[in-house]
Amino acid sequence: MIPEQNEQEIEALRREMERLQQRNGNIGEHLSALQVIQHIAHSLVSEGSLEELLETILCSAVRLVRASAGALLLLDQNTGELVFEVIEGGAGPSLKKARMPADKGIVGWVVTHGKPLIVHDVTQDKRFYPRISLEFNFPARSILCVPMMVRGTVIGAIEVLNKTGDAQFTAQDRDLLTILAAQSAVAIENARLYQNLRAEHHRLVTVEAEVRHRLARDIHDGPAQMLASVIMNAYFVREALARGNLEIARREMDEVLSLAEKALRQIRTLLFNLRPVTLEMKGLIPALEIYAQMLQQNERFAVVLQVESEIARLNREAESTIFAVIQEAISNVRKHAEARQAIIRLAVTEDGYLEVSVKDDGVGFNPNTISQTCAERGSLGILTMQERALSLQGSLSIHSAPGAGTEVRLRLPLAPNLANATE
Ligand SMILES: Nc1ncnc2c1ncn2[C@@H]1O[C@H](COP(=O)(O)OP(=O)(O)OP(=O)(O)O)[C@@H](O)[C@H]1O
Ligand SMILES: [Mg+2]
Repeated sequence: MIPEQNEQEIEALRREMERLQQRNGNIGEHLSALQVIQHIAHSLVSEGSLEELLETILCSAVRLVRASAGALLLLDQNTGELVFEVIEGGAGPSLKKARMPADKGIVGWVVTHGKPLIVHDVTQDKRFYPRISLEFNFPARSILCVPMMVRGTVIGAIEVLNKTGDAQFTAQDRDLLTILAAQSAVAIENARLYQNLRAEHHRLVTVEAEVRHRLARDIHDGPAQMLASVIMNAYFVREALARGNLEIARREMDEVLSLAEKALRQIRTLLFNLRPVTLEMKGLIPALEIYAQMLQQNERFAVVLQVESEIARLNREAESTIFAVIQEAISNVRKHAEARQAIIRLAVTEDGYLEVSVKDDGVGFNPNTISQTCAERGSLGILTMQERALSLQGSLSIHSAPGAGTEVRLRLPLAPNLANATE
């Protein structure tokens, strides 16, 4: 063998070995990064509040790719803006909750396109939105930004800036951050669902307490007081009988009977309000007919039911929700209106909506001032009616003015609420 050829081969082998060692090193680095991600994934599951979770995510992201600073932004569904939820390094807390248009800047591009992006020199990139950098006095040099997506929808982005030691973000950094972002998005979604569930639970507990409170008050003011009068009159009857005063005894007995009958009617009304069985068995209109009759007997104001169209049976939830809205509106007439008459009207419009209104000729009020003070006073009636309307994809409006009576109007699409509608 010629020695020169030998040397060439040795050189080639040496180079191959170097290449393999380099690759080995890369794989090792990759592996330890994946281990870090796995570790992060565990902590994401165990985080408590949404706020804490977001902090953990960003802190992990910045460490994972050795960046100097970073921000986690979430999309505000209502305004379509991006909100800086957590910031690490750089502008720090002063940037928290700052908002920017969702189509501006590098992060805007990432969110709009649903793709990750590395920009090595922001001054050379037209997409860079310098306002934030200037306003918060943070000199951004390079940026790596990845979207956070849940079921194909972008919910926000993680942005990291200026890799430490003047190094550049690599494709591997991008891939690792993308994996982290995917796990984070799911964790954020879960935390939000949990938060909503807790809020809903709290609301239900409040509503239930309110219902009990009302029931106790209604029993106290109504049948309980009447029964007390029944007992008192019965004592009179007994005394009159003992004295042999039959005429007085008979008169008092008539009073006892009339009071007892009234108490029974009130209890029946309370039971009906609690659980209108006719509503489940026969539907909304027959239940409203009975309800109107009961009100007519018990209330100081007249009640008229006007059903102006043929109305098909709606599904159970829709029927009981509409009934509950009418009950609340009538309860407001009883409590606040001092009305002579209330009209419950139902009609179907040509474009397929059911319109329900409860109108009184009472004292009226200014609905604008009420909405501001409602929360402070803990009034739930109008708020609950509005929420109920929304749950049927409908809307609720209040038309009133001092001295001009009040009308509560509920409007909902028929098709999705019909008894046989699929959904
Ligand atoms: N039909 C009405 N006539 C006159 N005022 C009304 C009428 N309906 C509502 N209001 C006014 O609007 C306010 C808010 O009503 P809402 O039903 O939200 O609360 P509330 O009846 O005071 O308390 P809650 O319903 O929680 O027992 C009432 O306090 C009352 O001032
Ligand atoms: Mg009320």
